[in-house]
Amino acid sequence: MTQENQQEIHKGLDGVIADYTAISKVNPESNSLLYRGYPVQQLAQQLSFEEVALLLWNGELPTAAQRDEFTAFERSHRALAQEVKTAIDVLPTDTHPMDVGRTAVSVLGAIHPEAGDTSPEVELRKAKELFAAFPAVVAYDQRRRRGLELVEPREDLDYSQNFLWMTFGEEAAPEVVEAFRVSMVLYAEHSFNASTFTARVVTSTLADLHSAITSAIGALKGPLHGGANEAVMHTFEEIGIDPKESREDAAARSKAWMEQALAEKRKVMGFGHRVYKNGDSRVPTMRGALDSMVAHYGRGEVMGLYDGLEAAMDEAKGIKPNLDYPAGPTYHLMGFDTEMFTPLFIASRITGWSAHVMEQRADNSLIRPLSAYNGPDERSL
Ligand code: CMC
Repeated sequence: MTQENQQEIHKGLDGVIADYTAISKVNPESNSLLYRGYPVQQLAQQLSFEEVALLLWNGELPTAAQRDEFTAFERSHRALAQEVKTAIDVLPTDTHPMDVGRTAVSVLGAIHPEAGDTSPEVELRKAKELFAAFPAVVAYDQRRRRGLELVEPREDLDYSQNFLWMTFGEEAAPEVVEAFRVSMVLYAEHSFNASTFTARVVTSTLADLHSAITSAIGALKGPLHGGANEAVMHTFEEIGIDPKESREDAAARSKAWMEQALAEKRKVMGFGHRVYKNGDSRVPTMRGALDSMVAHYGRGEVMGLYDGLEAAMDEAKGIKPNLDYPAGPTYHLMGFDTEMFTPLFIASRITGWSAHVMEQRADNSLIRPLSAYNGPDERSL
């Protein structure tokens, strides 16, 4: 062993400040999250997801003219490209939807007429195109898993309405659209998380936006990051969801399940956070959206399962839920397959990732940390 392994290393880059960003601020002390200075709860209450996307990209709230121009652009760029459909169609219908989403973004990058152009104007346009195009990928994949045909987008619907329309082939109730919109706003941006940092590392080599986002999707897939919303639902499924069960009985069962899981030293997905230690700032707003879905679908037992797990984790370890915890059952109640949950996170986070790609490129320095060698000393063959 060499001396180098005596150096201080920051495993998992824990506590390391890697760069400045003006896109979002996570404040664990005050449990707050600001997008370009605005509290995310206010944005989720008052703005459309399309307006939040413009805020993240441009740094300021859009004027009415900017909003209308983007609305028209977004609505006219929603169709699934034939090349993407062909690529998806060769994949088995049980391919994980994150692999489908990653493949689709890679194809969109490969066929882009300005694939190699990383100028600010073209990069912003590519971000807007991807924002508009990705919902059709998720919707089509969800439908083909059920043996259903592609549903074409509708220009008379907003982003969330159209997303649900393309997925389920019918207009969603206003409460469902609202809960979906809230989830999109909350998932949009979260500073230097693993997938965003991945996108910035790839951009720092001067690679293009689609390469950065394809790589970010790979990072998001893992259950310690975005895959947690899917994993949360697997927990609910493991406990057992019975629509006929009372809320109280479901809570008692899930509490007992959590006590057993913690006794077995299991890590339960949807709880804990690297930055927030006293609760995730996004959870109360997302919990409100879940409450409204539970009321809309009359599924009190889902809230019972939710409350029981949360209470038992809090009592045993004081660990709070993260955003993925209320998001998972919300998407379940809307009718999405569990495996589709993390691709919904992609659809939202395309905004934050692309804002970071542009910020990294505007003041670039190749991201290349050092390592402390702890292998054998030099030796001869
Ligand atoms: N279930 C059980 N124990 C937990 C959990 C959990 N979900 N999270 C943390 N702990 C315990 C952990 O076992 C450890 O205990 P001990 O000190 O006794 O060994 C202690 O808390 C510290 O955990 P850690 O994993 O070292 O902390 P971290 O800051 O590296 O981890 C985390 C943060 C998110 C990776 C972790 O909390 C976790 O694995 N959570 C489950 C996965 C999850 O929900 N991820 C979504 C994160 S938020 C959305 C996103 O960014 O995508």
